[in-house]
Amino acid sequence: MTTAAETASPGPEGVTPEADDRDLLVDARGVKVHFPIKRGVIFDKTVGYVYAVDGVDLQIRRGETYGLVGESGCGKSTLGKAILNLEPPTDGTVLVDGTDISSLRGTELRKRRKDFQMVFQDPMSSLDPRQSVESLLVEGMKAHGLATDDAATAKRLRELLAAVGLPAAALKKYPHEFSGGQRQRIGIARALAVEPKLIVADEPVSALDVSVQAQVINLLEQLQDEFDLTYLVVAHDLAVVRHISDRIGVMYLGGLVEEATADDLYATPLHPYTRALLSAVPVPDPAAEDAREQILLVGDLPSPSRPPAGCRFHTRCPWRQETRCDDERPQLRVVEVDGVPASHRVACHFAEEIARGEIQRHEVTATATVQDWRGSDDGDAIGPASVAEAQIHPTGNQAGPAGF
Ligand SMILES: Nc1ncnc2c1ncn2[C@@H]1O[C@H](COP(=O)(O)OP(=O)(O)OP(=O)(O)O)[C@@H](O)[C@H]1O
Ligand code: SF4
Ligand SMILES: [Mg+2]
Repeated sequence: MTTAAETASPGPEGVTPEADDRDLLVDARGVKVHFPIKRGVIFDKTVGYVYAVDGVDLQIRRGETYGLVGESGCGKSTLGKAILNLEPPTDGTVLVDGTDISSLRGTELRKRRKDFQMVFQDPMSSLDPRQSVESLLVEGMKAHGLATDDAATAKRLRELLAAVGLPAAALKKYPHEFSGGQRQRIGIARALAVEPKLIVADEPVSALDVSVQAQVINLLEQLQDEFDLTYLVVAHDLAVVRHISDRIGVMYLGGLVEEATADDLYATPLHPYTRALLSAVPVPDPAAEDAREQILLVGDLPSPSRPPAGCRFHTRCPWRQETRCDDERPQLRVVEVDGVPASHRVACHFAEEIARGEIQRHEVTATATVQDWRGSDDGDAIGPASVAEAQIHPTGNQAGPAGF
């Protein structure tokens, strides 16, 4: 289904230039996930849509870790689930290892499901408290015909626990007997038990104590080499994403606004939203901290049920221009900026001018708070966001773009 909300996806030419199709484990094109908003007691009337994911192209190479960042509610988890077909896309295609899993049914689908696993944020709620660790691990193995021989299964269970740093004695225990970090290790072991190719890890450490986060991140990295894994890691913590990712995609209101290698993104963020996100990260060096560009975003994320027309960031963008920004949705594209490689793509009409300092920042003031979808009886679901820019001061803050 394609709804009337303005959408755009870069299309096949948007594939990361150096990626050979055979290298790709995930090849998602034009993916949309629109949740219907229902109203009515007797008749379930659809009065609008939440445009959670709205035209995303995303490719992940074998053995790569792709990090997905963005504000809460921008659609990261939904995109991760759409890639695994746990949330079937409204539109677009997702090939995983060359197969469109949404086209599979029955036995074939069950067989392929083992290749793609998910690790969740909260291990306590994703692990059944009534099952022992052994039962949790064996369940998936049995479902995929990997636990036929008792001796081989017992050996495999011990290996799995050793791989995630837990003793064999853990097999007889229950989830509540472990700490948060240990439970996440069990969640990872459960995903590994079925020998997957791709793991989508959705905020895998955000529920853990800071002291344990690094251990779990290091474990994920170690296991990637050992088991030949490809990761899609969803996180809102920029430090976590930077540490673990080869490439990073920045999401805003259902779309990717920038994509680059981790080093390129942090060295040269080009999209105004990415610059704002990174400018909020403190730098340990006091001198660098004083010189650091600071962009305070005004207003909340607009409601995904009423995404702004044109560039979705235009209601909050300090570089917004009178032409194009309000009515033309920018595509993710290669930019012509000295030293920026073709793998670094940005969805901003004025990325070059901003990078060269030809357009200056101005002040943005939000006059109204964002209103979530309230619906209307006529079912009008489409319209501009309710965040409004009251004033733009062209001669306001003149901080240039080279502050990082
Ligand atoms: N099953 C659903 N039905 C209706 N709306 C949904 C559903 N799942 C998610 N949404 C909405 O879609 C939007 C994107 O949600 P999503 O959970 O993907 O965001 P997120 O980026 O993962 O946020 P967070 O960082 O808080 O986890 C949100 O507005 C959310 O309320
Ligand atoms: S297209 Fe316009 S509004 Fe959007 S990020 Fe670029 S300058 Fe800002
Ligand atoms: Mg989420």
